[in-house]
Amino acid sequence: MSGASTPLGGRSGRSTPLHLRDVVHEVVRHFRNEKDSEAHRIFRNSAGHKPKVANNVLLPQTVNPDEETVPGIDTLEAPVIPLPEDSLEYAPTTGVKALREAVAAMYNAEYRQDKLSQYTFENVCIVPGGRSGLSRVAAVVGDVYCSYQVPDYTAYDQVLSAFRRLVPVPTALDAENKYRLDVNQIKKDIRTQGLEVIEGEELEELVHVCRDASATLIMDEFYSWYMYPEDEAELGKTVSSAQYVDNVNSDPVVIVNGLTKNWRLPGWRVCWVLGPKNLITALSQAGSFLDGGANHPLQLAAIPLLDLERIRLEKLALQKHFKAKRDHVLKRLDELGLHVAVPPQATFYIWLNLEQLPAPLNNGLTFFEELLKEKTIVIPGIFFDINPAHRRNLFHSSCHHFVRLSFGPPLADLDKGLDAIGRVLKKARREGGHAFGHSYKKSIEGVHQLDKHV
Ligand SMILES: Cc1ncc(COP(=O)(O)O)c(C=O)c1O
Repeated sequence: MSGASTPLGGRSGRSTPLHLRDVVHEVVRHFRNEKDSEAHRIFRNSAGHKPKVANNVLLPQTVNPDEETVPGIDTLEAPVIPLPEDSLEYAPTTGVKALREAVAAMYNAEYRQDKLSQYTFENVCIVPGGRSGLSRVAAVVGDVYCSYQVPDYTAYDQVLSAFRRLVPVPTALDAENKYRLDVNQIKKDIRTQGLEVIEGEELEELVHVCRDASATLIMDEFYSWYMYPEDEAELGKTVSSAQYVDNVNSDPVVIVNGLTKNWRLPGWRVCWVLGPKNLITALSQAGSFLDGGANHPLQLAAIPLLDLERIRLEKLALQKHFKAKRDHVLKRLDELGLHVAVPPQATFYIWLNLEQLPAPLNNGLTFFEELLKEKTIVIPGIFFDINPAHRRNLFHSSCHHFVRLSFGPPLADLDKGLDAIGRVLKKARREGGHAFGHSYKKSIEGVHQLDKHV
């Protein structure tokens, strides 16, 4: 650190010691440049970093035109993007009415067929992405305590830091409890945010506990289709807290979801917030100063994607495909001697405990660095230790010994990543721990890239 041109405290102007993550960012900023790193250069030149074109259509970089990414999906009609003249104008900050109607109809049909109280377009606000939805919600709630879980989605860190009216209250999730949200703990805490996979009676209880306590429950349901039931007959089943809302206009349940994950269209920036009518009115006002609303033509293009039969097919294809990839990765990790204590029943991420490895490979940051040399990215666990405004000291973070692996990429790429893990472990066996934990070359750009993967 002695070569730093600016003292570590200089950037923030704080006199108190900086948080570990700040320290890491500062070190990276001052000492490392992407051009110095062979690993980075190879990574940049790899196929995934170049735009791909199939049938004259530019595909997202993660889509390989030569490969069927999700079986079944390709057989569905490709979305058409209409451009009527009025779509050149702003859409309303609550979104295009027909799309709002389609979202409401989808929740009613999928989760509320037996309920008297039904969602209408007035319960839906279309937003330009999930993070925008969360920011709009954060902008309109009052001065409240906001419970959140650790580990969790990294963007919560900044949302909970930026919106000062939210007072964050962390709850640690633990392996013994399989990282499940503990409804009893929620009963004790002041609560707004429930973000782990829970379903059935437990989810119902959570909705009721919040309603009875007049506490707002914000449900991030972005991964609600990524579920892997053991029983094949249950494939295609998905979960939403919408199922347990009694009165759509008085129960304080706010659902955030959209095309980003379930429809695998992150570039569209078309998402929604579902909740009581009066909340939607407030979200409209927040949208007028925060983001100005979601992309107009893509809102129109999204309407047919909410067709119920299309959704049924997509869910089935998606679950089969990702379940097979999950099982494949878990099996290969096991063969490498990396047993996953809590295999994921949902999402496309594996939370891998490295404590079984020799130091310093048992640290998520070192493991990440060593794999980067092998052209493979995993995310250090500490990134998921949500720490709004750096209030806590993360030196003893329970996430240090973890990395998060994604099984989202195509199977062949997953195998390359697993081969890379195998090589790092072999090197550890051959050369011992002293071979690791030094001479890293990376850059602040590299860390920005990393943020995209989190
Ligand atoms: C847990 C979670 N919630 C919400 C989102 C929404 O993301 P976006 O703002 O890209 O729509 C993501 C995306 O990574 C996520 O992982």
